[in-house]
Amino acid sequence: MSKLNIGIILGSTRQGRVSPQVGEWVKKIADQRGDANYEVVDIADYKLPLLGEADASEQAAAWNAKLANLDGFVFIVQEYNHSITGALKNALDYAREAWNNKAAGIVSYGSVGGARAAEHLRTILGELSVADVRIHTALSLFTDFENAMDYEKETVFKPADLHLVNLNGMLDQVLAWSGALKTLRS
Ligand SMILES: Cc1cc2nc3c(=O)[nH]c(=O)nc-3n(C[C@H](O)[C@H](O)[C@H](O)COP(=O)(O)O)c2cc1C
Repeated sequence: MSKLNIGIILGSTRQGRVSPQVGEWVKKIADQRGDANYEVVDIADYKLPLLGEADASEQAAAWNAKLANLDGFVFIVQEYNHSITGALKNALDYAREAWNNKAAGIVSYGSVGGARAAEHLRTILGELSVADVRIHTALSLFTDFENAMDYEKETVFKPADLHLVNLNGMLDQVLAWSGALKTLRS
């Protein structure tokens, strides 16, 4: 059986964001497992305007084509005002069938591990028929990042080793459910 394709979706698009550092960490650990094709998917690359505000048929087609090629997702979720970013919500709204009957895991961060944003995302994923797995990697801005509270300095991601347990557990679940749900789409 061919390997599943899992997209590691960066949820933030702002200049100076730390999500690429988090996404690369997830990809490095995931690649060491050798059990799927993992790729970082950066919403910023797709230049999606706010849904309905401009003719974005080309961008929408490219975004949907990327999602259609993926069997499962790991969302890199940062907490903005107790929820997900506007950019991630917009990108979620830009597709429907390309999300359906796939699995997802969440890696979140914030002052309380991005927990409030992660729970909001779970509610949205239910509407898109994405099965979100139980195990969740919740990173703290206080202990897993350097300078996260100092806007004068660059924030550096330095995750505690303890997160590897949840990250690998989450990936195990995402792969199991992504494989099972693929049978519904064939
Ligand atoms: C507009 C905005 C709102 C934020 N609101 C919260 C919040 O409600 N809770 C929290 O824990 N962190 C909050 N933060 C801090 C972010 O989680 C932190 O800056 C994080 O690094 C953002 O991810 P990014 O660097 O990938 O964009 C907020 C940041 C911004 C820019």
